Amino acid sequence: MSFSHDSSAMPSSPPSSAPQPPQPPQPWWKEAVFYQIYPRSFFDSNGDGEGDLPGITAHLEHVRDLGADAIWLSPFYTSPNKDGGYDVANPRDVDPRHGNLNDAEKLFARAKELNLKILVDIVPNHFSDAHPWFAQALASPKGSAERSRFHFYEGKSATTPPNNWISLFGGSAWTQVEDGQWYLHLFDSSQPDLNWENEDVKRDFEKTLRFWLDLGVDGFRIDVAHGLVKENILADHYDPQGLSDALRLDVEMTAEARGTLLASVPFFDRDGVHEIYREWRKLFDSYNRDVMAVAEAWVHPPERSTLYVRPDELQQVFNFDLLVAPFDDQELFACVDRTVTLIGGVGASPTWALSNHDTPRVVSRAGKDQARALAIFTFGLPGSCYVFQGQELGLPDAHLEDSDRQDPAFFRTKGVQKGRDGARVPLPWDGSTTPFGFTSGKPWLPVPQEWQSLSVAAETGQEESSLELYRRALKVRKNLSSGLSSFAWTQTPDGSGVISYRRGSTLVVLNTSTEAKRIEIDENSTVVLASNVALQGAPVAAGNFEIGALSCLWVEPTN
Ligand code: NOJ
Repeated sequence: MSFSHDSSAMPSSPPSSAPQPPQPPQPWWKEAVFYQIYPRSFFDSNGDGEGDLPGITAHLEHVRDLGADAIWLSPFYTSPNKDGGYDVANPRDVDPRHGNLNDAEKLFARAKELNLKILVDIVPNHFSDAHPWFAQALASPKGSAERSRFHFYEGKSATTPPNNWISLFGGSAWTQVEDGQWYLHLFDSSQPDLNWENEDVKRDFEKTLRFWLDLGVDGFRIDVAHGLVKENILADHYDPQGLSDALRLDVEMTAEARGTLLASVPFFDRDGVHEIYREWRKLFDSYNRDVMAVAEAWVHPPERSTLYVRPDELQQVFNFDLLVAPFDDQELFACVDRTVTLIGGVGASPTWALSNHDTPRVVSRAGKDQARALAIFTFGLPGSCYVFQGQELGLPDAHLEDSDRQDPAFFRTKGVQKGRDGARVPLPWDGSTTPFGFTSGKPWLPVPQEWQSLSVAAETGQEESSLELYRRALKVRKNLSSGLSSFAWTQTPDGSGVISYRRGSTLVVLNTSTEAKRIEIDENSTVVLASNVALQGAPVAAGNFEIGALSCLWVEPTN
């Protein structure tokens, strides 16, 4: 194969046949596979139609059997649930619909038994308006200490908000209260933004971090990590609608226009956020174990993401490029190369995700074969992979009626944005009738009858199923004889649609084109993993080998 690019960003290791010098143990999270659990949709143990913590505990073996190393739990805290739990009314308690603190402890204990690390979500940009602080703020006068925990300001006039910012869920980012003042909410009006210059806010979050660490969690996923500090809060933006569109992934615009607008966001990625994470890092390091955090930070330009993983800040930052990248060799190459170079370049570990609870599922976005190929393409890359529940089953987004929808983005945009509910439909577990074992009651979102063949039970043991592909892939990923340290491109985009890289002694080849392609393999090898199950285990004689359309292979030299 044409050798074209050796990423110097990643440390390289000798081939597996050479004697390996002893390696210091890696931090557990560096190459971990994280399985994202959206508690409301994982498993309902009490028949109320919504998933809960006992349901997760009872089905955690599914995650262990998959071969994941850790779970990330989306919020399960006390919440009116106007934004799927990301509207937190008490960050140190469990919402009754999900169980109670005792259930959380049982879940954590079970995860430890199964050798799964635990991340919980921390939501520091805003509270719910049902948090007692907000009621106190409303009951207190203008300019009071209670109001200063949030962003309360006078309007430009009696009926005009302090500035023209648009909420990420649509509509003004300001809501007026009875005495005429306005409060800022980058998301729903039920999610007032917190003022991170206020000492109460800082102390309260430290308390929350300690609370969950003391209960045994191993780290945090930090929601809207780039949003905590706002600049020029009383100034209008020159193009609020343009900015709002640029922040939405489903609005098309040129990369240049988007780049210019994103460089001007006054409420994201301000330098001040880093002081907060430096303080949090000290707190993490005060624990006698390897505590980590991953930042949800959509930043522009991508170089800015490296700031979040400086040695005295957080361990990981999400890379969202693959959530939106088309199935195209050039785009995929550019995305991976940029991430490995930037993040690896500062000594941090990259992260890869194909789906999450905020974006269309990869099967719906890219296609079924493409989703399989992308999964194993990313599982070979250096760094951590995040798998969203149901991704392993190859679930598509569910078609929902508007009357089923619950996402605030749907309501605030008056239906212009359909919202994220399609990706959040409960998991199908077994049986032949919807909701396939998820609940004995009525599921909070309908589970399509067509998912019968996509349940955990239906896919188990079916060699060609997505679930068995994921199980195989994670097993092979763990057993890679060469270790997972070196990374080098072996074929960059050349018009054929094929790209490939070598990880240790494993060659990973992706064919994004709709035609089979011939590739050169230097030595007798074996296909140790294939998105096209027919090739699994196939011997490959040195020379020319055919890779099918829209597929990915892992090939190892035969000993
Ligand atoms: C990002 C979360 O992933 C999303 O679900 C939520 O709506 C917003 N942050 C606001 O918390």
